[in-house]
Amino acid sequence: MNHGDRASDDRLRQAAQLLRSARRVVVFSGAGMSAESGIPTFRDAGGVWSRFDPEQFATLSGIMTAAATRPGRLAEFLLALLEPIARAEPNPGHRSLARLENHREVTIVTQNVDGLHQAAGSGTVHEVHGSMFDVVTMSGGPLRTVTREELQGVVAALRRLPVDAVSLDELAAAVEPIMALAAAEPYRPGIVLFGEAMSEPAWSHALAAAQQCDLMLTVGTSAEVYPAALLPLEAQSAGARMITIDPAHGGQDLWLRGTAGEVLPRLVDAAFATA
Ligand code: OAD
Repeated sequence: MNHGDRASDDRLRQAAQLLRSARRVVVFSGAGMSAESGIPTFRDAGGVWSRFDPEQFATLSGIMTAAATRPGRLAEFLLALLEPIARAEPNPGHRSLARLENHREVTIVTQNVDGLHQAAGSGTVHEVHGSMFDVVTMSGGPLRTVTREELQGVVAALRRLPVDAVSLDELAAAVEPIMALAAAEPYRPGIVLFGEAMSEPAWSHALAAAQQCDLMLTVGTSAEVYPAALLPLEAQSAGARMITIDPAHGGQDLWLRGTAGEVLPRLVDAAFATA
């Protein structure tokens, strides 16, 4: 958001007013929320899906095929996904949302699997695409959680693999703490791949929160992936006011153009600095 640009200052003031008048706020976040924590988005230039074909890497059957036919390429994909998450810390955007809870009832609904809203201190977080810190059975039943240090261990093991000649056995050993697709009782990260059901009960809670909020702040999502992208539509048709924070997409909402890490702290300060 450009400081000093009158139109954008006006929009910030309007948004601050909406935030002050709201009773129930839902934040709907996507990959852009964590971009300033060093985690790449999916669909921007240089994003995950520009480097890895989602047809191959965003579905379980694609991942199984890649494991059997191109374990080295699958290892590259897993590194690209896991490494930024394993070392990420919340950015000022995450932290300002946690601070917002001092002033308003806030429900975070996130498509992100990086745990950064919780790490920043947000209390009510519904992870509709699951979490990289959950390990689940193949039917989605919870098995255990892993720590950020354990994820860092998986990353270190992946990094030690020989770049051009990774065998399936070596790959399986590296990811063993979070994934064992060929084990007698297979398990995998608790994240939602394309074509899979949304994470429950997060999704039911998210839908209810969207239908009951009076303000939705949409942050850093292209809103192209359904059913998650239904949430802003649900909120709007239930009468909620809508604000979008994103450097590139604003739609019909009150659009604060800029990054999450810049705009969110300014918005929360503008709304409540003197409260
Ligand atoms: P996308 O990569 O589709 O969209 C990222 C959005 O973040 C874009 O609108 C960018 O303009 C915006 N953006 C980039 N940098 C930003 C910043 N610093 N601050 C704020 N916004 C920024 O990511 P998602 O919409 O989250 O699903 O993608 C949705 C789903 O697609 C993901 O959850 C994942 C993916 O495939 C699954 O894995 C099921």
